Amino acid sequence: MKIGFVQFAPVFGEVASNLARAKTLLAGFDGDIVVLPEFFNSGYLFVSKDEVERLAEEIPTGPTTTMLLEIARAQNIHIVAGLPERAGERFFNSAVVVSPQGLLGTYRKSHLFFEEKLFFTHGDTGMKVFDIAGCKVGVMVCFDWFFPETMRVLALAGADLVCHCANLVLPFCQNAMVTRCLENGVFAITANRTGNDIRGAKRLDFTGASQITGPRGEILYRATAERDEVFSVEVDIHRSRDKQLNPFNDLFADRRVDCYGAITTAL
Ligand code: ACM
Repeated sequence: MKIGFVQFAPVFGEVASNLARAKTLLAGFDGDIVVLPEFFNSGYLFVSKDEVERLAEEIPTGPTTTMLLEIARAQNIHIVAGLPERAGERFFNSAVVVSPQGLLGTYRKSHLFFEEKLFFTHGDTGMKVFDIAGCKVGVMVCFDWFFPETMRVLALAGADLVCHCANLVLPFCQNAMVTRCLENGVFAITANRTGNDIRGAKRLDFTGASQITGPRGEILYRATAERDEVFSVEVDIHRSRDKQLNPFNDLFADRRVDCYGAITTAL
């Protein structure tokens, strides 16, 4: 199986040109599963509810999901991509999972970052795992990585691969994904954006360096911090099914769930 990502710099509010750029880059993708960044169609730095209302789209009828469905069908690929979702009166930071046959589903970001909390509702889907050609694919969106429970729950649900749509602004994730993948024995694709969003006095710089990480913590590829990139790599995806570290240690069987009660208790 060949897995990869698209990395680029969306321009805030310029949905048509962001979609066109993503389509051009996707045309160069050679593989089975490709991940695009969080909010790849809209840009990230919302400063008003009006903007969210204007740029959020219904899934699957909005222009972004419609385009992704067309591309997935035409190129015979699976796409995981982030976009602002409108669902009635509520707005979510979502990721769609699109196959050549149609929409497989939507994940809504569980852990909202910083001022996202002003505009978006916490995800209500829970952690989701999709079946893509015998590969179990978990999905998370950016700041979800900061909570180790996210990837643990996905891995326990059988995920071989975690598709991670990101707009990273802190310098920690790419290195941390080595540990996340190692401790769960899974592959991950972090598709991050580059460039910046400058909105009046507010500015965010995004770190690029999209990364594919293997189940023993190997960095299979890390992109540049600045350039647009389309990348894919062939992997033996079922390496993730071997959780045995040595003859005595198994990543899942050795868990001491009798000691972990506080992890599932709210403060
Ligand atoms: C983030 O969750 N976009 C940092």
